[in-house]
Amino acid sequence: MTLPIRHFRTLLDCTTDELNYLVQRGITLKMWRNQGKVHEPLVGKVMTMIFEKSSTRTRISFEAGMAQLGGHAIFISPRDSQLSRGEPLEDTAKVVSRMTDIVMIRTFGQDIIERFAQHSKVPVINGLTDLHHPCQVLADVMTFIEQRGSISGKTVLWIGDGYNMCHSFMHAAKQFGFHIRVCTPEGYEPNAQVQAECEGSFSLHRDPLTAAQGVDLVVTDVWTSMGCEAETEERHAKFFPYQVTTEIMAAAGKQALFMHCLPAHRGEEVAGDVIDGEQSVVWDEAENRLHAQKALMEFLLLGQQN
Ligand code: CP
Ligand code: NVA
Repeated sequence: MTLPIRHFRTLLDCTTDELNYLVQRGITLKMWRNQGKVHEPLVGKVMTMIFEKSSTRTRISFEAGMAQLGGHAIFISPRDSQLSRGEPLEDTAKVVSRMTDIVMIRTFGQDIIERFAQHSKVPVINGLTDLHHPCQVLADVMTFIEQRGSISGKTVLWIGDGYNMCHSFMHAAKQFGFHIRVCTPEGYEPNAQVQAECEGSFSLHRDPLTAAQGVDLVVTDVWTSMGCEAETEERHAKFFPYQVTTEIMAAAGKQALFMHCLPAHRGEEVAGDVIDGEQSVVWDEAENRLHAQKALMEFLLLGQQN
């Protein structure tokens, strides 16, 4: 049976039902792995992974996940492919998708994912762009659900840069039915298009302690994302009041979880006592990249499983 090509460029590429399926399937695949059960539905399938930015978690989780599902993953970067020597992205997409079954790309502009997908005969997964990081947020929602049950109706505080992680969390709010308070310094608010897409699911805030009151989850990210390094000094000055401290977690309350997609900088966006403290679930988040993405790859290649 041939499935229609489905891409995962943002969380809006799936319906709410499909996203809930992926979370539950991720939980099942995690249980099976913990039980030592071998599940290899992707024998003979090959994934191409194109990384234009650095990665630890994304590369390892996709590569290990593909191997655990019985398939294989190939890593390429522009430096060791013809991309850096001027081969058009569209030509690369045509060639790669004739040889391999699924593609994951980590790059700069969201338009690069869009252009690649337009010329690809196989599913394309966004492994992080400047605009979105949907795989991370899928794993984060899975982590919340494991810890607390349904995320629908809950309140999340995003604190820091209104950038890729924040945008995907806003999409998650719309899709999973929670409210997200987005607390940023002036000038670092989320992208206008993402705000329009998520109308009614978010509110904008400036004061971290007020925004933190009673939330179920506090989430932050680095002050200087990949590609923004030239602004590091200016960002440090502006973001310092937005560090997630024990005071902010206390304002949120004991029920609140803390998440960070990692890599983290203790003493910058998060205090060491918070990320290494009892409310932090950052290691589960990182592990759940593996399980959630296995569910995603299986879904894109084989459809929903019973
Ligand atoms: N969180 C995340 O995507 O980590 P890497 O940059 O290490 O892949
Ligand atoms: N916002 C960060 C996320 C890293 C996983 C970045 O883009 O560098």
